[in-house]
Amino acid sequence: MTVINLRAASTSLVLDLGLEPGNGQPRILHWGADLGDTLPDPGILSEAVPPSALDVPVALELLPQASAGWRGRPGLRGHRATGAGFSPRLRLADWSRDGGRVEITQADESLGLRVHSVLTLHDGGLLEIAHTVTNDGGTAFALDELAAVVPVGPAGTEVLDLTGRWCRERHPQRSPLRQGTWVRSGRHGRTGHDAPLVMAVGSAGFGNRHGRVWAGHLGWSGNHESFVDTMADGRAVLGAAELLGSGEVVLGPGGSYSTPPYYAAYSDHGLDGITEAFYAWFRARDTHPATPRPVVLNTWEAVYFDHDLGVLTELAESAAGLGVERFVLDDGWFRHRRDDRAGLGDWYVDEEVWPEGLHPLADAVTGRGMQFGLWVEPEMVNVDSDLARAHPDWIAGPAEPGPPVPGTDRALPLEWRHQQVLDLVNPEAWQYIFERLDALLADYPIGYLKWDQNRDLVDLGHAGRPSAHEQTLAAYRLIDALRAAHPGVEIESCSSGGARVDLGILARTDRIWASDCNDALERTAIQRWTGLVVPPELVGSHIGPTTAHTTGRTHELSFRAITALFGHFGMEWDVRTVTGADREELCEVIGLYKDHRELLHTGRRVHADVPDPSLVLHGVVAGDGTRALFALAAVASSYAEQPGRVAIPGLDADTTYTVQLRYPRPGSPGHVLLQAAPPAWVEDGATATGRFLAEVGLPMPVLNPEHAVLLSVDS
Ligand code: DGJ
Repeated sequence: MTVINLRAASTSLVLDLGLEPGNGQPRILHWGADLGDTLPDPGILSEAVPPSALDVPVALELLPQASAGWRGRPGLRGHRATGAGFSPRLRLADWSRDGGRVEITQADESLGLRVHSVLTLHDGGLLEIAHTVTNDGGTAFALDELAAVVPVGPAGTEVLDLTGRWCRERHPQRSPLRQGTWVRSGRHGRTGHDAPLVMAVGSAGFGNRHGRVWAGHLGWSGNHESFVDTMADGRAVLGAAELLGSGEVVLGPGGSYSTPPYYAAYSDHGLDGITEAFYAWFRARDTHPATPRPVVLNTWEAVYFDHDLGVLTELAESAAGLGVERFVLDDGWFRHRRDDRAGLGDWYVDEEVWPEGLHPLADAVTGRGMQFGLWVEPEMVNVDSDLARAHPDWIAGPAEPGPPVPGTDRALPLEWRHQQVLDLVNPEAWQYIFERLDALLADYPIGYLKWDQNRDLVDLGHAGRPSAHEQTLAAYRLIDALRAAHPGVEIESCSSGGARVDLGILARTDRIWASDCNDALERTAIQRWTGLVVPPELVGSHIGPTTAHTTGRTHELSFRAITALFGHFGMEWDVRTVTGADREELCEVIGLYKDHRELLHTGRRVHADVPDPSLVLHGVVAGDGTRALFALAAVASSYAEQPGRVAIPGLDADTTYTVQLRYPRPGSPGHVLLQAAPPAWVEDGATATGRFLAEVGLPMPVLNPEHAVLLSVDS
């Protein structure tokens, strides 16, 4: 037996490569708590043989196979035209190890199939798995699924995954782990508003900061499936795969298919431990944004499609006065785009609205020291566009009911926001879009693209075959090519708000737009759960108008601002209308962000387990433990007269800190404290050790529902 023991950040991954090459079946013996360097003979883990079962113990393989007795979901499914290849017998062919990275090749020579797997346990404890299957046979192999699968420890008894919709992305749902398979399928052709982000299994009652948790995420922006499979023998596995359409991937002789990377983390201290592993991985990347995240002003909720140079110049002027650093011109600037019914595909500045091009506005922006950003939606096309009229065949989709392409008898997929998908699998369409964007980036001083994608890719095909897989890869190639040609340009991934949040798109973009909902109450939840995986420096978070456009709720500036502070901060508001004391307060908040962004964007994320469900306490603690910022938000009215003591976890136990109510101060314009008298410490601050703050906590001020306060913690 060859055993490989990878260890990083309180996590162990133990692999058993089985017998000799050609005979062995690689398997994962353990993934979870760190076991140290000394392991017993792995033979002691050989399972019992139950009555009325296969006559040999059945182990979980790296790629579970029916041929080895696995009766759960197989790791590899497919077949040749004759039906051969339905049950591969993959055996170890080769392997190598380089530090935390292991490469394993398995082959079934008689079927002509080979699978190459790369497993990496990153320094921060994040496990990454990717498989590539190659058809070494002489006939085509139709691939149905290639999945990454990891075992869950027996302590795992509850499942958590996320779901959502437009303006309410990434909300958690929990259920007991039962026998059978819990599957979350995404058939949106994009990640989806309802994507699970992670599927997690944890010990009974696991919380933000307690309990064991195993969690996995598929880094892919197309169709996907995540699952937890619990067998009658009691074992449970987590896994995920790209969800392939019928006949979508057919490997010719020599052809191969690679899975998207599957990322998985184990934590012995609740969900915050999962977050730590993901953040460590993000932040160790060479491509991770290294410059301070600029304060953004986005024009969408300020002017929508109503573009006017005079108004936008005033907006830029007003934004610059507040300390804005990046001004983003949203949808509405290109030919025919007076509303959302026309123009997608016509990526030329509209000559009627912008007779001198975007230059006067870009000059007004850059002349005031701000970066100029531009909205685009390159993967889409309106039927009412010059592009569709010139190239009706560039609209993706098989012949299903829908409006016919003008001038042809071809039917199209159903419209969504009056738009269709541009067939990027068609090299000519891809090249056209590349050249248009390349030209815009060359013509204007654009430092930032907000890259939108506003519809599901349902009923999508190319040349008579499902094409969500190829379309996703083509979109990735487009972004990659533009980045290579314009390395200084940052890109935000937006998709009807937050419908494309995954590590596949984040491998090539610098920020995600978490949601079209700027309502601070909704955002408190959306950002908490987006932040389970994605660090705040990559999550766009804007102060919206006083009354939120998407919910009609009205919130104080302080609640909106404190919520936006815990992300990549900005505004999406006609700030020309913000005057007097409100403007002073807004300036103060922008200053607060600038003073603290280094902490907010490098520190450890902490989410307290507050027993009162009406209160949320979360914060960021500096890596060296010297300081922190926490937000206390009342997300509903409480059953209690006052919050009483609320524990502040995550600080260094032996360090002494001073906690202060930083914003809004009692008596200041944004004053939100309802009680006759706040707790005594609010006046001068409270000094205590991290241990005391975590174990005893501090009595917190009474907050009106849908209000928040910001606490600074300094050693
Ligand atoms: C959807 C995005 O999520 C919004 O922020 C905005 O950019 C609109 N599209 C523009 O059409």
